[in-house]
Amino acid sequence: MTTIITGANRGIGRALWAACRARGDDVIGTTRGIEAGPGWTRLDVTDPDDHRRLADGLSGRPVELLICNAGIFPDRGERLEDGYPPEMWAEGFATNVTGVFLTVQALLSNLRASRGKIAIISSQMGSDTRATGGSYIYRASKAAALNLGRNLATDLAREGIAVGIYHPGWVRTGMGGPGAAISAEEAARGLLARFDALSPATTGCFETWDGRPHPF
Ligand SMILES: NC(=O)c1ccc[n+]([C@@H]2O[C@H](COP(=O)([O-])OP(=O)(O)OC[C@H]3O[C@@H](n4cnc5c(N)ncnc54)[C@H](OP(=O)(O)O)[C@@H]3O)[C@@H](O)[C@H]2O)c1
Repeated sequence: MTTIITGANRGIGRALWAACRARGDDVIGTTRGIEAGPGWTRLDVTDPDDHRRLADGLSGRPVELLICNAGIFPDRGERLEDGYPPEMWAEGFATNVTGVFLTVQALLSNLRASRGKIAIISSQMGSDTRATGGSYIYRASKAAALNLGRNLATDLAREGIAVGIYHPGWVRTGMGGPGAAISAEEAARGLLARFDALSPATTGCFETWDGRPHPF
């Protein structure tokens, strides 16, 4: 089975890449970094040219699982009074929302070829039920990613393509920090079990890494 993971060079994406390889998936790990080389495919999720090259390189190959993992948290510690500049909003949305959409759009024919699944890594911080304030850009972009996934689920249901949206836990990565609750390996194990369980019957779900339904 062919699995594609965005932002696979470190953090949760890297752990997902390793776990998928260990179970025998044919994994395409993508990275925006210059270290793209053998075993890695270059994809800056904000760059339409990269998306085109990725799709061309696959030339119709069926993709069973697409994991939209790449993300940024640009506004940690910004002040309401004078922070959150417009460029930061643009970058946050270009990566966390448009980047997800462009990836799905570019790989649609590959997903159709296998009735594949799409997993979108959002965050509990995107849930309207956890409006604890601050981090406006990250929260709004992850809420939009959740909304995008829910609407893709509706549109793709008739083709049997299931879409799930996930909170990966609070994870010890560059983003989550060293004091976070779980390791990237633990998050990846839990997430892969959720992706395996995803089906047309559960499409549009918003779940945590350990299998609990998350309120929208
Ligand atoms: N860690 C947590 O506690 C936590 C909690 C909730 C949700 N999440 C979500 O989980 C996902 C993974 O987070 P993480 O903790 O593993 O973060 P991370 O350690 O900061 O890694 C983020 C990954 O995304 C990549 N990336 C960022 N912008 C990109 C772009 N424009 N194109 C391609 N790749 C890009 C990074 O690549 P570079 O190395 O090139 O920067 C890196 O591989 C994110 O969507 C995040 O929002 C994380």
